[in-house]
Amino acid sequence: MQIPAIHVGCGGFSMQRLSLLSREKLFKPVACVDINVSKAKKTVDSSEIELIKNLKENVYSSITEAKKNHDAKVCFIFVSSKEHSKLIIESLKLGMHTYCVKSIACNQKEFEEIIKIHKSKPDLLLLQGYNNQWNEAAQKMRDLIQNKKDGIGKMLGGECICWGRQNLKNNPPVEDVTIEGMFFYSLACHQLSQLVAAKGLPEYVTSYVHKRVDEDLDYSDVFGTTGGQCIFEYSDGTPFSYTGTRAAHGNIFDFASRWSGQWIIHGEKGDIRRQGGRISLYKNGSMVSDLYLKDLDQNLIEDERIQFNEFYLAITKGKNRDWLQQSSLDTWVLMEACNQSARKNKKISIKLLKEKLFDN
Ligand SMILES: NC(=O)c1ccc[n+]([C@@H]2O[C@H](COP(=O)([O-])OP(=O)(O)OC[C@H]3O[C@@H](n4cnc5c(N)ncnc54)[C@H](O)[C@@H]3O)[C@@H](O)[C@H]2O)c1
Repeated sequence: MQIPAIHVGCGGFSMQRLSLLSREKLFKPVACVDINVSKAKKTVDSSEIELIKNLKENVYSSITEAKKNHDAKVCFIFVSSKEHSKLIIESLKLGMHTYCVKSIACNQKEFEEIIKIHKSKPDLLLLQGYNNQWNEAAQKMRDLIQNKKDGIGKMLGGECICWGRQNLKNNPPVEDVTIEGMFFYSLACHQLSQLVAAKGLPEYVTSYVHKRVDEDLDYSDVFGTTGGQCIFEYSDGTPFSYTGTRAAHGNIFDFASRWSGQWIIHGEKGDIRRQGGRISLYKNGSMVSDLYLKDLDQNLIEDERIQFNEFYLAITKGKNRDWLQQSSLDTWVLMEACNQSARKNKKISIKLLKEKLFDN
């Protein structure tokens, strides 16, 4: 059964997702929403996919207007992060399951407003899109951490590193360099959502952000936009550290491995080493497997395909519904905890922050 859906945003990344949704046929895009209606109509009309072309007459300037004209059950949101929270709230109030690309919120107030509305509509699935956790390599790492297939036993500790040089120069400047805390909200989240999906939320974090200025790349002195590092503690005292930057002076890894992360994870029964799609498992002093799996796809299409599929199965069959929703929201909590710790220069209780954000 195809689910009728409204698609918000007709920019480059968003149109790739719309094409994918149209091809996959799980959801049926029935209308598009964009504040620039005339440009969006042209974009839609230029599509090679008939279904998208036919949406030309169904482009609206607001979700409310689109919903008035089409009986959609789901809303996909792909616009600038600073617009996300109000669009999610609009979509939830109109009774639609809502999928929004990261970051769903740019501060605690926005997040709390989303949660308040969502609590009044518990039957609606709310998912923050984190495509990096769905490829074969990411799923294999999760299985090994969760001990599903010959895993590493109880996790004893680990680390993840992610670095690259990302030129975000634009006129006007993009929000990844202008909004405080965006390094964690929109880059570190891609690696750390994988940790949250596998192990849940840690209990504490101590975090720092890099104060890096690089005019060539458009990074000015906005708090928390270029890089950071932190150490998490799980409830049993297990430590896990993370270091990342998007403004390095070089990039010794290729695109895929830097965004997927470079990981070392120690367990009572084994150790994992991962760089992008390569996952090596060591036990009893030897390497017992060395796999080269599919990592991030070109334009993240395959990763997104799997994620859309999981979203569909959670709506229609309830498959992994609670875990899917909670781990995606918890990842935002973790990113905010990292920002808070760095801002206040102190160790933060993630549990207390989560209670504040969810119980408001
Ligand atoms: N790995 C990832 O998950 C990943 C990768 C790339 C981009 N993104 C995110 O995807 C989002 C969309 O990217 P894009 O390249 O399509 O963006 P874009 O800037 O090319 O296009 C955004 C579109 O949204 C429209 N828009 C802005 N505010 C709106 C509003 N309030 N209501 C309706 N429409 C509105 C604009 O008119 C524009 O057409 C961004 O948030 C970006 O950060 C995520």
